[in-house]
Amino acid sequence: MANDTHVLDASPAADWTIPQDWSHYTAEDHATWDTLFARQSKLLPGRASNAYLRGLDVLKLSKPGIPDFAELSERLMKLTGWQVVAVPGLVPDDVFFDHMANRRFVAGNFIRRPDQLDYLQEPDVFHDVFGHVPMLADPVFADYLEAYGRGGQRALGLEALKYLGRLYWYTVEFGLIAEPEGLRIYGSGIVSSFAESRFALDDASPDRIVFDLARVMRTEYRIDDFQQNYFVIPSFDELLRLTVETDFAPLYEELKTQPDIAVATVLPEDQLVTRGTQAYALAKA
Ligand code: PHE
Ligand code: FE
Repeated sequence: MANDTHVLDASPAADWTIPQDWSHYTAEDHATWDTLFARQSKLLPGRASNAYLRGLDVLKLSKPGIPDFAELSERLMKLTGWQVVAVPGLVPDDVFFDHMANRRFVAGNFIRRPDQLDYLQEPDVFHDVFGHVPMLADPVFADYLEAYGRGGQRALGLEALKYLGRLYWYTVEFGLIAEPEGLRIYGSGIVSSFAESRFALDDASPDRIVFDLARVMRTEYRIDDFQQNYFVIPSFDELLRLTVETDFAPLYEELKTQPDIAVATVLPEDQLVTRGTQAYALAKA
């Protein structure tokens, strides 16, 4: 990868942050961002949630090249009090939660290679900044993510990370929202993916299930391909209210006595937005 050298050279800090070192990105790195940006921003109107599209606009993410985190943080700070800080890649859970609880979003500062435009497993600057940061310009979602960070610190002590992690997965990463105009995507894993931003809304394969907190926390997920089920929230206000007003400690204890739910399972009590055919996953099996 183009940036490996300067990433590895940076001396590690206790909070795992490193300087973004914006001047070290190559012309090829910036061109990769621009290609990905052009492709996604064409696809997302009418598909991404209003909050997401507004964030993309007010943060001026359309400016060519990989965003400078200092500049981005300045805009974000004025809007919702969040900042974006650079890290080399995935960080330990406690570090991740501490940043989040203090309104610092950790973003990988490397960018994928030109041959990885469609898929890579580790979150790079395109996923982290294009995918996540626009939602942080929304005051309600900004509060949700801070509360999540504090919830994470608490879950560590309660040995319940498995359950809380699924909430993150099915909201922050792969969430859908029912907006007045129709179903929209807000999860960063979807908005930053060319293929999944169509699949998640248009394909007949996946189940789209009305969000239920305990149900989501019991549900396994896949990290290697499109999701086989998505969960649909009615609004960000409702997501925030529900998660903040529920004490997760007794919920975790209850969930520990219940079996996990495999992907693509539909329960009698599920409220379905669309029942999937699972054709996509079945064709691959
Ligand atoms: N209410 C949660 C708890 O009791 C904290 C939380 C809030 C977690 C919002 C996630 C999102 O642990
Ligand atoms: Fe992510």
